[in-house]
Order: sequence, then C-alpha cells, then structure tokens
Amino acid sequence: MSETAMPHPLLETFAQAGQGQVFAFWAELDAAGRRALLAQAGEINLGEVAQLTRTLLGPGGAAGVDLSGLVPAPFVARPESGGDGAAWARARAAGEEALRAGRVAAFTVAGGQGTRLGYAGPKGTFPVTPLKQKPLFQVFAEKLAAAGRRYGRPLPWFIMTSHANHAQTEAFFAEHRFFGLDRARVHFFRQGRMPAVDFSGKILLAARDGIAMSPDGHGGSLRALRRSGALDLMKDAGVDTITYFQVDNPLVRCVDPEFIGWHLLHGAEMSAKMVPKAYPEEKLGHFCLQHGRLVVIEYSDLPLAVQREIDPQTGRLRYLAGSIAIHILDREFVRRLAAGSAAGTGPALPFHRADKKIATIDAAGNPVKPDRPNGAKFEMFVFDALPFARNGLVIETRRADDFSPVKNADGVDSPRTAREDLLRQYARWLKSAGAGVPTDGSGLPAVVLEVSPLFGDDEDSFARSWAARVPRPEVTAGLYLE
Ligand code: UD1
Repeated sequence: MSETAMPHPLLETFAQAGQGQVFAFWAELDAAGRRALLAQAGEINLGEVAQLTRTLLGPGGAAGVDLSGLVPAPFVARPESGGDGAAWARARAAGEEALRAGRVAAFTVAGGQGTRLGYAGPKGTFPVTPLKQKPLFQVFAEKLAAAGRRYGRPLPWFIMTSHANHAQTEAFFAEHRFFGLDRARVHFFRQGRMPAVDFSGKILLAARDGIAMSPDGHGGSLRALRRSGALDLMKDAGVDTITYFQVDNPLVRCVDPEFIGWHLLHGAEMSAKMVPKAYPEEKLGHFCLQHGRLVVIEYSDLPLAVQREIDPQTGRLRYLAGSIAIHILDREFVRRLAAGSAAGTGPALPFHRADKKIATIDAAGNPVKPDRPNGAKFEMFVFDALPFARNGLVIETRRADDFSPVKNADGVDSPRTAREDLLRQYARWLKSAGAGVPTDGSGLPAVVLEVSPLFGDDEDSFARSWAARVPRPEVTAGLYLE
C-alpha cells in the first residue's frame, strides 16, 4: 500500500490542471494498471489540451473554419491541358537528377484505422490488385524498387503507423521479407496520440487504467518525423526531399520525377498535386488562396453552393482543384514546423475538432457506449502546413495515373473501383505499346490481368519492357507481367 501513500507526481499535475478524474480509480489499480495509466498520462501535453479546450470547445469553438477572402488557388497545368511542355520537360530532368543523386525519400502515412472500409487489419495489408491480390504495401514496395533500379539509388522508405497497428505492420513486412526491399532502408515509426475530451474539456477514460487516446491525424506526421529521428536519418543519408502519399491509394506515382522537379525548380518548401474535381460533391479538399496564402479547405467545410459554382470564363467548376493528398515536403521545412509546434514557440499546425461517440466509463467505472457524440477528438491535417511554406506550389496530375483511393467498402472509392482503375491503366499501357486489348467504353479490359510495377510503372517503362519481351505474350485472362 506504500504506492497509495506515495502518489506519483503526475497525479498532482493532473489534479492542478483540473484533470484529476484521469486518476479516479488509482487506489484500486494494480501495479501494471498504474504503469499503463502513467505511461499514457505522460504522453499528454496538458497545456495543449487546455489551450484546445479554450479555442475549440469554448464559445465559438464549433463555429467552423474561416472562409473569409477565399479564392481558387492557381496551379501548374499539365501540357495536355494547356501547360508549357518545355517547362514540364525541364522539371522531369531536374527530378531525375535529384533521384540519381539520392536526395529523395518516400513517406507513407499509414496510421488510419480503415473504419469506413470495414477492414480490421492495417490498411496497407489490404489486398488490392486484380489478379495477384497484392496488398497496398506491396504495390508501393514494388514501385519504390522500380524507381531505385531506374535511378541507380534505392530510396529510403519511411512509414508512419499508429499505436493500434504498429506491431502488426512491422510483422507483416517481416513475414513478407520486406517485399524484396533492403530492410535497412525501411523505417517504421508511430504517430503521436491525443486524449479525447468531453465537451467541457475533461479528458475521458476508456477504462479504469486507460485514457481514451486516439491518433493525432496525418498532420501529426510532421512532429513524428522529427521525434522519431527520421529527419536526422534523412540528413545523414543526404536526403532533403520527402515524397508523401497516403496508404489508401494504389494508383499513386510514389516517385514522380516531374512533381519532384517542379518542387525543386520552384524553390518550394511544400508542393501538392491536384486533379480537376470530377463532380461538385466529390469528397476532396479544395486548393484555395486565402488572403494570399495557399490553403486546403475540406469538402465538409466548403458550402455545397460554393462547390457547385461555375467559372463563367471556363465553364468549369470555380473551385476545380481537388487535393489528392500527395505532397512533397522539404526536410528542413518539416523540422522547422515540427520544432515550433513541439515547443509552442513557432508556427504550428492547428488542431481540428471532431465530435465523436467516444466509448468511456462512468463514475462507477462501468462501460458507457454513447449513441450520440459525447466528446471531441483533436487531429492535425498535413495540408495545413501549406500556408507556412515558402513558394508553396500546386501542380496538376492525371487522375487515371495517380489517384484511385480505397476508402469505402463499396460504391465510390472502393476496392472495386480501385481494381478497375488498375485494369484500365494496364489496358492503356498495353494499347499504347501496340498490343490488342478488347475493352469496354470506359477502357476496362474484358479479361483480368496484372502488371507488376517491376515490369512497368508508367507508359514509357511499360513500353520498354513490352518491346523487350520475346516472345510477345498473348493478352488473355490471367496474364501477369513481372
Ligand atoms: C483525405 C483528405 C482530403 C483528400 C482525400 C484524398 C483529410 C482530412 N482529408 O480525406 O482532403 O481530398 O484524403 O484521398 O485528410 N492517417 C494517419 N493518421 C491519422 C489519420 C489519418 O496516418 O491519424 C492517414 C490514413 O492512414 C490515410 C490518410 O491519412 O492514409 C487519409 O486519412 P482519411 O481520414 O481517410 O482522409 P479522407 O477523409 O479520406
């Protein structure tokens, strides 16, 4: 009982911050329960929680985002939509040079839960390709391997996990022998967590010995890159440019020399890819300028009437530029933002409030499963770094070659749509290399086939491999090119 007699200093700190309820069951916890609770409590920055309670939960806190002074952001158009072909060629050359010099690392945010998809494992382990059912992680691994071979410099790959999926993610890579990558170049680290609070800002318990903690959003990746030592590893390896993508998009060009080149030639600290929105209600963030600064306004924050506005000059949507969550970040820009936010001194990513049904316990310690939101979680979004970036840049990409995310169990952005978009891509490559492929009006081939990124990961590399393959394979069901 000496432990009860000598309370841990954190109990006092929490009590003074008005968060003493976190230790309400302390007296009845065994040593393991106390250790677990203290470890979680130790992760919490009470000053930050108090500040978020004031700013996001206080009067006006639910008022939503500031939409004042918003106009559509400019972007660099692709050559086929009127952009300057010579400038794109210069960008490609600059990107290739950086890749050959080993200046680029890949970074995947894979901390999300896959709740909408209804899939229990880490999302990156979700089988996604049409024929071989390769998981998302394998698709990226093969694209990175292909790029490493092409530029003569293997890229380091950083993968951000969450507490919930870290061990499973590492085990998955080990089980699959890192999909042929050199394991010394694959680095995993956990993102941070934030406590959930009730609407008066009191931290909620998930159990007598556990706080309701949740991931701090993909914007937490900036802090996590710094805290984990990833930025230092990059620096030691001569990497200054980080190519960032989400785990949910099997079509993503993980390593895109044109994108990298535009970023570098423009002297940008952060760049982002856009696609023209397919329809006004499409659930994409919107690139905008606000008082001259580049920002992304989420689909849920921009009124539908605004999303439907038409630009009279072009006849297209006024807020056309949709964010597909593919970015390039300058290493030292990440360090600057992460340090500022950790110390509370410099510019920092803002937190967003999400009201949620949070499983908790009542004063007697009994589980409570609320049927309406009983509190808020706090998350940061990585695109909120854009307004802090010097020379932030938005460039256009072709949707068919960069974006088909797996988000929902069915309907739009589902495993079926991603699989079909992969099949369409293979059919396009085959056709442009001169092979006959029967397709429907949408370009979907009549047979199921698959192309490994190691055979080709864009039209040019595919065409080279196809020309070299003797005898030329027949395009029939089950064709697998590797
Ligand atoms: C996101 C973007 C949206 C963009 C769209 C494109 C946000 C808020 N919105 O929408 O602007 O148009 O993608 O597909 O991001 N993740 C973590 N840790 C977290 C939370 C998320 O690693 O704490 C990762 C997930 O694993 C996933 C990605 O971030 O790879 C996206 O998260 P998600 O919540 O699915 O974003 P969307 O609402 O789909």
